[in-house]
Amino acid sequence: MKRIPETAKRWIDQWIDPANRWLSVPCSVAALLVLLVMVKSCQGIVYSHSDECRIYRLGYSIDEARSLIAALSQQQIDSLIARQEHDTIATALLNERYFIAGNFEYYLALHKVDTTATLPDIIAVVNTGDFPDKKDKAAHCDTTKGYLMLVNGLHYLDKHYKPDSLVKFTRDYCYENQRAVGPAVEAFVAMQHECKRQTGAHLMVNSAYRSYQDQMGTYKRNDKRYVALPGNSEHQTGLAIDATSLQHPEKWSFGKSEEGVWMREHCHEYGFIVRYPEKQAKLLGYSYEPWHLRYVGKEVARRIHDEGITFDEYYAYYIDNSGSHTEKPKH
Ligand code: DAL
Ligand code: ZN
Repeated sequence: MKRIPETAKRWIDQWIDPANRWLSVPCSVAALLVLLVMVKSCQGIVYSHSDECRIYRLGYSIDEARSLIAALSQQQIDSLIARQEHDTIATALLNERYFIAGNFEYYLALHKVDTTATLPDIIAVVNTGDFPDKKDKAAHCDTTKGYLMLVNGLHYLDKHYKPDSLVKFTRDYCYENQRAVGPAVEAFVAMQHECKRQTGAHLMVNSAYRSYQDQMGTYKRNDKRYVALPGNSEHQTGLAIDATSLQHPEKWSFGKSEEGVWMREHCHEYGFIVRYPEKQAKLLGYSYEPWHLRYVGKEVARRIHDEGITFDEYYAYYIDNSGSHTEKPKH
């Protein structure tokens, strides 16, 4: 066993000697205080270098700093600090319904160029990719998503893509041969029966599946505000149906007709959404198309209908961002 050195022994003896108690107590207290001050200053130095303190020094409150740290990645925190400025919308963004952490910098950048845009608009535009900094990210459509595949101006299909199987509509439902994927055909027929029962009008399919080449012809013949480039049309998926009615074959008057309004309000019960609502004009370009239905299945159609979002927004938040979004109460 190691021996205690003589000096230390003497020092301990003096320390515990009752005769020295008047000296040892104040000394102990003083030593403790010095130790405490040293620990505190070390903590202060460490804290002043922490993310929380550095964000606080940019002008955020401590609570805001903590929320930012909880929501963002370390890399995002580092670049937030490196910018050395207080962004007025940074923490408000975190509470937005469709906030996606990975898009944080894009939201801030868009706000800088369009200071009048509302936060929900900023989030919708950035999430759907309709923002200059993100537009170069055009990508192949992920066809493995099945009924939920996304085709738009930024997600395209190969020239040769064709659905595995297509089913013909019978002549009761279309003016000339039209085909779509089986579940979309079934759902349309069921919806058509109910629409007839409730409004007396007979829904018709104007156009459903269109190959890449068909779309080329459609594109050349039509107003570009309402038609996608070949490869960027979801008609190529076999999941889109342009509908009108025997009573209102013209698409604009159909949108305002009793059955057009009925279809807009009820199509989600059959798994369809009106793919290009008025809101769409602000996102990814297409104008309102009250006739263009897209099959997504009942569950997703209901959600899109209830939340009042476009399919592009749904896809960005619930599919692309899946796993990282949290269910938040609807405002
Ligand atoms: N009308 C839609 C945008 C299409 O052409 O696919
Ligand atoms: Zn269409």
